[in-house]
Amino acid sequence: MSHGAGLPIGVFDSGIGGLTVVRELARRLPEESIVYFGDTARVPYGPKAPETIRRYSHEAAELLLGRGVKALVVACNTATAHAIDSLAESLDVPVVGVVEPGVRAAARATRSKRVGVLGTVGTIGSGVYDRGLRRLVPGVQVFAQACPLFVPLAEEGFGEHEASRLIAEHYLAPLREMDVDVVILGCTHYPLLRGLVEESMGPGVTLIDSGAETAAEIERVLEAGGLRSSAADAGEHTFLVSDSPGRFREVGSRFMGRALGRVALQPLDEKVVR
Ligand code: DGL
Repeated sequence: MSHGAGLPIGVFDSGIGGLTVVRELARRLPEESIVYFGDTARVPYGPKAPETIRRYSHEAAELLLGRGVKALVVACNTATAHAIDSLAESLDVPVVGVVEPGVRAAARATRSKRVGVLGTVGTIGSGVYDRGLRRLVPGVQVFAQACPLFVPLAEEGFGEHEASRLIAEHYLAPLREMDVDVVILGCTHYPLLRGLVEESMGPGVTLIDSGAETAAEIERVLEAGGLRSSAADAGEHTFLVSDSPGRFREVGSRFMGRALGRVALQPLDEKVVR
């Protein structure tokens, strides 16, 4: 076991959405401690330029590494799409994003080789899912759809609202026509709209939630590096945000499926407080 095994896992997202990944991490690896950073001062990343997203992602990573983490989870599809390669190259801890695990799960699940991908404008524009799927599934046809309104709907608690149903119908109509058999929920917020997506796509379509897949991947990575915690007790979860911890705590409990406890303000331009 490496001496870093007792350190927490660092997780970052543009804001609240990464909590759907933390929920799965905590379920799978309860003994691991987690330090989460949500960049709530600058959310959303979805519509921003790739260079901006890369810069923000490196700043978030630096903040977490400054606190001492043994691995980094990029729990944001948009940040993964634009920054995973440069983060993995420049950091000396293992880095896991949410895209690759989702791609692998979709590759396993598709029979018809017709796969739908939902994500932010940034994620869809990057073509990252398309490239990943083509690498693993020869002859695959990928149908990608940006669903920008899903993010605010999930945060407003409109996961089952009639307005969301109409919007889901609108976004998903092209995928229904293309007869896909798998749909990747390629954004941290979309698991909160899972029911509506399921209903709109109809039976026989498998939905891929990359949170659970990412948790399995980080387990493998920690195991391979001798970095699994040997603690007997449950790990500690620390939440840091760059703006409005109160709102994060309130909305975040819905994303996490439980109360969050303390959330601390950590503006990015201030010295890291340990
Ligand atoms: N976390 C982002 C993602 O998974 C969604 C929110 C945002 O646009 O920042 O792509």
